[in-house]
Amino acid sequence: MTLDLLQADRIRCLRAVSLEPSRGLTLLHGRNGQGKTTLLEAAYLLATGRSFRTPRIEEAVRRGGGPLRVAGRVSGRAGETDLAVVVDGGARRLAADGAEVGLEAYLGRLEALVLSAERERVLRGGPDERRRFLDRGIAGLAPAYLRTLGECRRALEQRNALLRSGGAGRRAEVEAWDERLAAAAAAVHRRRREYAVRLAAALAEPARAVFGPGETLTVAYRPSPAAAGEAGPHGFEDAYRRALRSGASRDGALGFTGEGPHRDDLLLELEGRDLRKYGSAGQVRAAVIALKLGKLRLYREERGENPVLLMDDFDADLDEERAGRVAGFLQEESVQAMLTTSKETLAGALGVPMRKVRVVEGETRAA
Ligand SMILES: Nc1ncnc2c1ncn2[C@@H]1O[C@H](COP(=O)(O)OP(=O)(O)OP(=O)(O)O)[C@@H](O)[C@H]1O
Ligand SMILES: [Mg+2]
Repeated sequence: MTLDLLQADRIRCLRAVSLEPSRGLTLLHGRNGQGKTTLLEAAYLLATGRSFRTPRIEEAVRRGGGPLRVAGRVSGRAGETDLAVVVDGGARRLAADGAEVGLEAYLGRLEALVLSAERERVLRGGPDERRRFLDRGIAGLAPAYLRTLGECRRALEQRNALLRSGGAGRRAEVEAWDERLAAAAAAVHRRRREYAVRLAAALAEPARAVFGPGETLTVAYRPSPAAAGEAGPHGFEDAYRRALRSGASRDGALGFTGEGPHRDDLLLELEGRDLRKYGSAGQVRAAVIALKLGKLRLYREERGENPVLLMDDFDADLDEERAGRVAGFLQEESVQAMLTTSKETLAGALGVPMRKVRVVEGETRAA
């Protein structure tokens, strides 16, 4: 799918911007604080009704006066759609083809994947960031997974509450929750494992493109408890139930459940070495880009079209050769991407055709 028109008004510093992104690559360049990231934020808001910079969208409303309005036209397999999001006085309104709709009905017309500093914690941050990455990816393909995840979380909270209230003396009750938790955890485990395997396959080619020859990136799901993970997707439930039983007194002393999907991780290795511990800034960033491109491919396998890619500070930490390889890959894959940079000379260095747009004081100029 492509975003053929993007209009943004009173979102942060932007004023009545109207932009026709290329169907390929668009490079938004300009000095710091001019509104480049805000343009990506506007596109993401149009896709999801949310900002990737803040959970409080009111913050993005122009200081001194809204309403914030973003609008655009999308074309894809489902045809053409006009979308609009207005944020006014703390209220958000969504419209598709001129009719106001609720969030559920609104979503799905424009899919956007964003890569920004806020989202790059996936590699350097704690395992919770990587679990969120897995879970968001799964839910993006199968929204019902959020229910599965919720059931697991509730079972875990109930078991923990019981442990804290002196569960040692209430063994039968804890065991009843063990059953519930093991069943719910097995469902989460299966989905995460399946997704990680698919992601690893989808990632191979983009990773080769991003890293070039000589550096191999691998991803592997690291389930908790490890022993139950080794039992495979079907043996997990039994193995986890046994682990819960044998760990009951330790869990009781701690007041929480020590093992389970809430302790899962995703391991990324470059040439067999943990990137989180040993990766350079550029290698980490390249890996995050490869992960995102893997996600993009999974989306395409599922839906038969590419989502729109938004990459903030495109060239951050990348050498020119690598940045060029990433841009080349996007072009080969016919991805519509909006990239930002503060370096005006970047477009020339990338060696890939792209539309250049200069962002100055909240306005855009063709350049
Ligand atoms: N609610 C708001 N109202 C008005 N201006 C805002 C608001 N929030 C942020 N700004 C301003 O808008 C600009 C935001 O620009 P943005 O983050 O898009 O910059 P950028 O071009 O991506 O810069 P950089 O190269 O530093 O990343 C900043 O100058 C910031 O001070
Ligand atoms: Mg920025």
